[in-house]
Amino acid sequence: VKQERAALLDRRVLIVTGKGGTGKTTLAAALGVCAARRGIRTVVVELGEEAALPALLAPAGARPPKGDGRTPVRVSEHLYTLRIDPEEALTEYLELELRVRTLVALLMRNQGFRRLIGAAPGWRELISLGKLWHLESRKTGNRPLWGLLIVDAPASGHGISLLSVPGVVLDTVRMGPLRRHTGRVQELLVDSARTLVVPVTLLEELPVRETRELVRGLGELGMGLGPLVANAVEPEIEVPRLDDALSLLAAQPATADAMLAPPTLAACLVRARRRRAAQQSFRRELEGELDRRAIELPFLTEGTSDRAGIERVADALERELLAGGAAA
Ligand SMILES: Nc1ncnc2c1ncn2[C@@H]1O[C@H](COP(=O)(O)OP(=O)(O)OP(=O)(O)O)[C@@H](O)[C@H]1O
Ligand SMILES: [Mg+2]
Repeated sequence: VKQERAALLDRRVLIVTGKGGTGKTTLAAALGVCAARRGIRTVVVELGEEAALPALLAPAGARPPKGDGRTPVRVSEHLYTLRIDPEEALTEYLELELRVRTLVALLMRNQGFRRLIGAAPGWRELISLGKLWHLESRKTGNRPLWGLLIVDAPASGHGISLLSVPGVVLDTVRMGPLRRHTGRVQELLVDSARTLVVPVTLLEELPVRETRELVRGLGELGMGLGPLVANAVEPEIEVPRLDDALSLLAAQPATADAMLAPPTLAACLVRARRRRAAQQSFRRELEGELDRRAIELPFLTEGTSDRAGIERVADALERELLAGGAAA
């Protein structure tokens, strides 16, 4: 397991998914920072409606870069972001296939063509994954242009439907270029030497339940599973003999004018301890069921919503990824 974790950044594609709000974007960004620190030319890819990553990863004081929607844009040394827009990716694909820009522009404006693609279920997913494959296969000389692609994927259920589209297409389209191209995308996705899915969860009832289903779904799709990441974990309270500390606090007068009255402080400690215990029991349950250890990222009170915050998450991630001195 240790080896698998150490080799995480040696893969070509990492797909981060998990329940809504569990920290997918945060983790994808932090993995990007870890890889870039190692000198790996990394693209963090997002598929959503809005581009959140340029602002999240731009160094303090720097303006978030804007791109053309096709080429990854550099945010800092070795680190790039790209939001894949399905329409833009389709236009690019058609241009590459038909090699006539003006014809493609006409086609994309044609109402009949738009209705046709509008009626094809899953084309957005397929074309986005196709773009991912294209990025993966780009070469400079005979080396890959991009060292690592990290995908901030949609939340669990949508993530699974995204990843299942190529298989569905291969089941229904028997021949032709669509089948050939989809076959290449599928080969990349199910090759665990190149692609791993990294599920992220909070240690709470619903996210844990969804993670279980997510992992089962990924297994059915034949995809390789990377480390399981438990995010925003309550740290252990570093108070020696907490019970003694609590009785000491209980013996203090509950002065109302103190900044932090002893009963308030005691209540905080008790709550944090309970929360920690509940989370750890969810962790053990999940690890037992899935038969794998979870990496823990602490809840960071300083926040994680800018580059400095992401750097802190990356520090925590590195401690976990490299625990035991295994080299990346
Ligand atoms: N370890 C952490 N400590 C403290 N805050 C965190 C941590 N991880 C994430 N957060 C915060 O939790 C919120 C949700 O995180 P994030 O946006 O990464 O989740 P998400 O899974 O991408 O959400 P969505 O499903 O909406 O895309 C953000 O405000 C983020 O800053
Ligand atoms: Mg997100």
